[in-house]
Amino acid sequence: MMRISMSLPKKLLADFDEVLKDRGYQSRSKGIRDALQDYIVRYQWMNEMEGERIGIITIIYDHHYKGVMEELANIQHNYTNEITTSMHIHMTNKYCMEIIVVNGDINEIRELTERMMRLKGVEHVKLTSTANGEEFEEPHSHTHSHF
Ligand code: NI
Repeated sequence: MMRISMSLPKKLLADFDEVLKDRGYQSRSKGIRDALQDYIVRYQWMNEMEGERIGIITIIYDHHYKGVMEELANIQHNYTNEITTSMHIHMTNKYCMEIIVVNGDINEIRELTERMMRLKGVEHVKLTSTANGEEFEEPHSHTHSHF
């Protein structure tokens, strides 16, 4: 391990220590290591978001909210190339969940996600995706060769 020293604004460090305390961290160094790891992973993930992706959009919305179901349908009908399938779950009396499987250009998928996110009555939207391209074939067959 390397030892470094650094300067931080007092407030930032106090906020960070507060989070570490809440999460039950015993060591500040361990907290900083984990935070750096998170930062790196998040950057790499954002950076990888290009080209063709396959993924899932999860939406939770209040189906009593006027016009929201119709709007969700209207928006989705503009992305028939990207939407593979969708599932509707009547979660509670108030809330519905929709799970949309998407496959295609990440710019379109991101736009679809953001348009639905902006709707009033929509409480939660989450997109998870992974590359759907050729690059997947190699690690896959490599894994299989271990069996
Ligand atoms: Ni429903």
